[in-house]
Amino acid sequence: MNALFSSFSTLGVLALTMTASLHAAPAPDSFVQDARMQMGQLGTSLQQTLQQTMRSEGPLAAIDVCHQVAPELAEQLSEKGWQVGRTALKVRNPDNRADEWEQQVLLQFAEALAGNPDTSQLEASLETDHEYRYMRAIPTGMACLACHGDSIAEPIQTRLQALYPDDEAVGFQLGDLRGAFTIRQQKGL
Ligand code: HEC
Repeated sequence: MNALFSSFSTLGVLALTMTASLHAAPAPDSFVQDARMQMGQLGTSLQQTLQQTMRSEGPLAAIDVCHQVAPELAEQLSEKGWQVGRTALKVRNPDNRADEWEQQVLLQFAEALAGNPDTSQLEASLETDHEYRYMRAIPTGMACLACHGDSIAEPIQTRLQALYPDDEAVGFQLGDLRGAFTIRQQKGL
């Protein structure tokens, strides 16, 4: 998890704004800055909880962190009309499935990551009539492979299959795009 989440502490340094090529209107700077902050909080809390649990109780218990704690943390951040979540092209939890804009952005993130493995900071934003949206790429780090790689240990695999019978989020390699944080805020709240 270190490799992945440490990249978030250098927010903005390598950030690419991909919005221009996707849609005419990127979200305003004030929203993007707020969104980065919200995303940073979620990333940090998740990283800490996941690392602590992996260390003290092992990967089986850590599955429950991802299963229960991740959605709870996202919920806590979802104040004032903010909706914070995670999405991907291949999802473990079908509730995290990408909508059309997210899918488009994820494809661009994946392409950018493949062309330049060092690019760990990819973001995109969008303003529509009724909301602002923001996404930031999540690359696959070493620690992710235990649950998202192509050889998942037996007890973990069994537990994952029980919780997520339609799991698509396996077979990732180090450095692949795993998914993205995704944030939206209704206008006028
Ligand atoms: C202990 C097992 C475990 C580890 C380690 C793990 N994950 Fe997950 N991951 C899960 C589970 C379980 C879910 C489903 C969570 C839910 O129900 O929303 C998930 C969901 C996700 C999602 C949301 C999209 C989806 O597939 O539903 C992303 C993005 C994600 N993980 C990224 C990562 C990254 C990046 C790492 C490494 C830093 C990582 N995960 C490490 C178990 C794990």
